[in-house]
Amino acid sequence: MLNWKDDESYTNSNLHKRVMKMSELKKEAVRSEGTVFVLFGATGDLASRKLYPAIYSLFREGKLSDKFAVVGVARRPKTCEQFREDIFRSIQDFARYKTSVDDPEWIRFAEHFEYLSLDTNDGPGYSRLNDVTTSLESKFEIKGNRLFYLALAPNLFGSVAHNLEVGGLLKSEGWHRLVIEKPFGFDLPSATKLNEEIRQVFDEEEIYRIDHYLGKEMVQNINVIRFSNAIFEPLWNNRHIANIQITLSETVGVEDRGGYYDHSGALRDMGQNHMLQMVAVVAMEAPSRVDPEDIRDEKVKVLKSLRGLHTNAEVKADVVRGQYAEGVMNGEPKRAYRQEENVDADSQTETYFAAKLSVDNFRWAGVPFYVRTGKRLPAKTTEVVVEFKKIPDHVYLAKNQAVLPNLLVFRISPLEGIYIKINAMQPGSEGTIIPIAMDFCQSCQIGINTPEAYERLLFDAARGDSTHFTRWDEVALAWQFVDSIASGWANNSNELHSYPSGTWGPQEATDLLARDGFHWWPVSGQEESGVTWVEATQT
Ligand code: BG6
Repeated sequence: MLNWKDDESYTNSNLHKRVMKMSELKKEAVRSEGTVFVLFGATGDLASRKLYPAIYSLFREGKLSDKFAVVGVARRPKTCEQFREDIFRSIQDFARYKTSVDDPEWIRFAEHFEYLSLDTNDGPGYSRLNDVTTSLESKFEIKGNRLFYLALAPNLFGSVAHNLEVGGLLKSEGWHRLVIEKPFGFDLPSATKLNEEIRQVFDEEEIYRIDHYLGKEMVQNINVIRFSNAIFEPLWNNRHIANIQITLSETVGVEDRGGYYDHSGALRDMGQNHMLQMVAVVAMEAPSRVDPEDIRDEKVKVLKSLRGLHTNAEVKADVVRGQYAEGVMNGEPKRAYRQEENVDADSQTETYFAAKLSVDNFRWAGVPFYVRTGKRLPAKTTEVVVEFKKIPDHVYLAKNQAVLPNLLVFRISPLEGIYIKINAMQPGSEGTIIPIAMDFCQSCQIGINTPEAYERLLFDAARGDSTHFTRWDEVALAWQFVDSIASGWANNSNELHSYPSGTWGPQEATDLLARDGFHWWPVSGQEESGVTWVEATQT
């Protein structure tokens, strides 16, 4: 077992090296000690689109040795052969690496998968699960390390945790970890109840709450870029930054998830988790150590500093909500949200929201964080724009011309990279200032095959690194913030604005920034506000 205190290098000066060494050791432990992944919801969409491809990539890249096994658990009866065929299809359809049925590596990989048909409420059935798991451990020489992944509806988390304990699955000699998916509750009271249920069985350190945005490479890169560049970190505050804009836009509608989404809406589906996590990552202080708890402590401080929107008037002033109506996208007609399957014909659920957030601490006082997310918008993109303050007007060459502010843009997905907009002299002119872009596109580089968020997260959970998972206090603070907005809406303080599919949401979202003298910057490849940037130069 790895233990901090056992290591003689436990001194402040060696701390960083020590953390890095721990991380290497933990990586190696995944290979040498092995893990059984017990996957509930094994026939679901998440498993086939994300989890099997992720496990396959980890195997192909040698991060998992032969000491691993997967027990797929779902209610549907299925033979082990059928299960392995499903996994093969999911890899062919969704994995970064492809294979073929006669590839010896695939054959070796497939042997590690077993299937068990089990109703999650069938308590006595869990002893069968324990038997299957134990026999895989002895077959692949795995030291009793068990990772329980619940790709299930949250109302089942508590009973599954309880049944795992009663069924003896937590008695093996190694570690036991619980990985759970969002939504983690519907509001603070329901999330608290859910948390109490699973805490009766698992300690906080054993619970890995997934927010897949934290597994995205470029989200992790934000703080690397911030904290490792002397040209950014000293400017990262209210003296130099005018505002920050975070956009999580999607072109899809609710597809086949109307039943879930109509009870959730954009604020709970994207705001409580991905959006507030991104705000916390961008705004946090540098942690004193590269240690998961220290990093999460810093994010908690940001969430605690978020100015609450307590009254209906505050919610109305700073939050805009919208719902998509019919429209045309890429020449195709799209139906309105209220016409979607399993959506109430009179639904008041928002498919879009935009908000102005304030982080009340010394670094950020006075800097608005504008966030927006929505479905059926013109582009699928996740971007963070840091808009710097403008140089003073009427000085030097800027005397007779408008000079645009500098921007630092993090492209999170689907394009990955950063670009910086600066001002320069137009070639051949008499000092005409034009904006130019320095563009680093990571995903355009040949040979870069960026790991999927789920690969990182599964591997991190297996090696016991909780940095990119959300701790209970983060979840609770995020719900507290979101609940106040939701209750403002429930009191009808905000109108639900309709926007045509394929547009950037209600006009009120534009007005939200215009009021402060700002506008949304166009996301990559889109020109929304009449600003045309010159051709980007690839570095
Ligand atoms: C999920 C939401 O958490 O994130 C979905 O439930 C949304 O509604 C998805 O479509 C977006 O994730 P990504 O990685 O495609 O931006």
